[in-house]
Amino acid sequence: MTQRADVVRADKSHIKRIAELEKSCIPDGWSENAFEQALGNPNALIFAAVRGGEVVGFLNGSYVLDEAELLNIAVSEKFRKSGIAGMLVTAFEDELRKLGVKTVYLEVRESNAPARKLYEKHGFTQNGLRKNYYRSPAENAVLMVKMI
Ligand SMILES: CC(C)(COP(=O)(O)OP(=O)(O)OC[C@H]1O[C@@H](n2cnc3c(N)ncnc32)[C@H](O)[C@@H]1OP(=O)(O)O)[C@@H](O)C(=O)NCCC(=O)NCCS
Repeated sequence: MTQRADVVRADKSHIKRIAELEKSCIPDGWSENAFEQALGNPNALIFAAVRGGEVVGFLNGSYVLDEAELLNIAVSEKFRKSGIAGMLVTAFEDELRKLGVKTVYLEVRESNAPARKLYEKHGFTQNGLRKNYYRSPAENAVLMVKMI
């Protein structure tokens, strides 16, 4: 079944749930406080996927001049595989184009097949490998890039 969501720029009302989603995917990832601070940063771009009033996914990115970084993306487990992450990536890229960004970078755990597939589907290609970049557990980071 297709389960769609509305993608909006995140505001303070979304942050608690975004931080919970982040924690469920990356236990040592960003705290609620870090997301709140990012809301006040003009170079931060945080999108929320909202369905039935509930935040079911988010994308956290940032940009400087004509380069951007996709820092993290997550979708609530029960809403996965229904195109929500794809909608978030598209919204992020649409906004980046308006801002004059030309290149988007990201890094992903080598074993994270769903995320790597998602990025490949959206036109990202591998441009490097950082050995043992991640901790707990130690793992290589695959570096990916896309010209938008
Ligand atoms: C990665 C993640 C965000 C994908 O979210 P999603 O909403 O399920 O993704 P979508 O439904 O938009 O899928 C888009 C594409 O991603 C790929 N994909 C998504 N889940 C996949 C899976 N379990 N296995 C293989 N490919 C997958 C497919 O190419 C898919 O396109 P398709 O449906 O046409 O095959 C989600 O699995 C997640 O939250 N994972 C945990 C957090 C995480 O690892 N984030 C990335 C950190 S870098």
